[in-house]
Amino acid sequence: MRAALFSGETTMSDELRTVWWEQGAVCLIDQLRLPHEQLVVRCESVEAVAKAIKTMQVRGAPAIGCTAAYGMALAGLLSSATDTARLLKDLVVAKDVLDSQRPTAVNLAWATERMLVHARQLGAGSPRALADALLEEAHAVLAEDLAMCHAIGDHGAPLIPAGGRVLTHCNAGGLATAGYGTALAPIRSAFAQGRTIHVWVDETRPFLQGARLTAWELHQSGIPLTLITDNMAGYMMKSGKVDCVIVGADRIVANGDTANKIGTYSLGVLARAHGIPFYVAAPTSTIDLSMAHGDLIPIEERSSDEVTHLSGHLIAPVGVNAAHPAFDVTPAELITAIITERGVVTPPFVSGLQRVKGVA
Ligand code: MRU
Repeated sequence: MRAALFSGETTMSDELRTVWWEQGAVCLIDQLRLPHEQLVVRCESVEAVAKAIKTMQVRGAPAIGCTAAYGMALAGLLSSATDTARLLKDLVVAKDVLDSQRPTAVNLAWATERMLVHARQLGAGSPRALADALLEEAHAVLAEDLAMCHAIGDHGAPLIPAGGRVLTHCNAGGLATAGYGTALAPIRSAFAQGRTIHVWVDETRPFLQGARLTAWELHQSGIPLTLITDNMAGYMMKSGKVDCVIVGADRIVANGDTANKIGTYSLGVLARAHGIPFYVAAPTSTIDLSMAHGDLIPIEERSSDEVTHLSGHLIAPVGVNAAHPAFDVTPAELITAIITERGVVTPPFVSGLQRVKGVA
């Protein structure tokens, strides 16, 4: 199915639709087919939602959280339970299935937990009424994520210096969220304010989220960009062509250590070596205060085929070993500030993160 990619007439990507509910199905832009084809995936079972998350038809921490929330609503609506106790059991099974698809981004388990807690709080009543209420909650997760992204844009835009040349990695844009993005939000907001801006887009091997998705999003929005391969970042910094780095996050733990797409840590080291500010932009749903430091974050290992192949073509000798850790952890000491929807957190991160999480 060809996608109704934009919900309004505008082609500004704040209207980009990544995930939505339509006639009993969770609908997604198929991110494996972008930028050349704009196709919609319709998921009509929890297993289909799980598969879309695993195969990365939908990806990006907040986007998989929103998708999983709808997956929980779908589990409720499809359940044959005749009482709410049985329905809650079905929801626990669905949560386990969804959570196990990708371990690093905390937003996935955060969203399914929120849905389960909501279901337990509603408690008694008919299973159908509970399932309907879960769908409303999934809509709320999506709407809140979009609002958080816009707030991140408001808080982050002033950090970009005049004439700002911003380097970003992976895709932390509208496609990775309910819309508007996290790392791309301050860029979008600065651009909307009429400020001069230029984005260096890392291609982001091996999955090419930068080349395929970030470049596409920014290009659609008319925001000036230059695509570079990942190994050009240091050269650009040394040449004085990068004013700041802004990346997204999959999990920010209590001390500020941050998991994000593999290659982010290298950028943190490079930025520090060149005296360039390094910002992480993420909603508070990405903050996981249950983990004290980054060594505890589970790092997803993906298939080595994604390294040995490009667009389905083998690019390495047959039979060669390849590694594929999909994320790395940037230590807090390399991070200048963390931009959230509740404000900008600067070191010391422990107290600042507690404050924006509302536990201090
Ligand atoms: O493997 P992906 O594409 O899901 O990884 C995505 C990232 O690392 C993003 O930077 C992160 O999820 C933040 S998205 C707003």
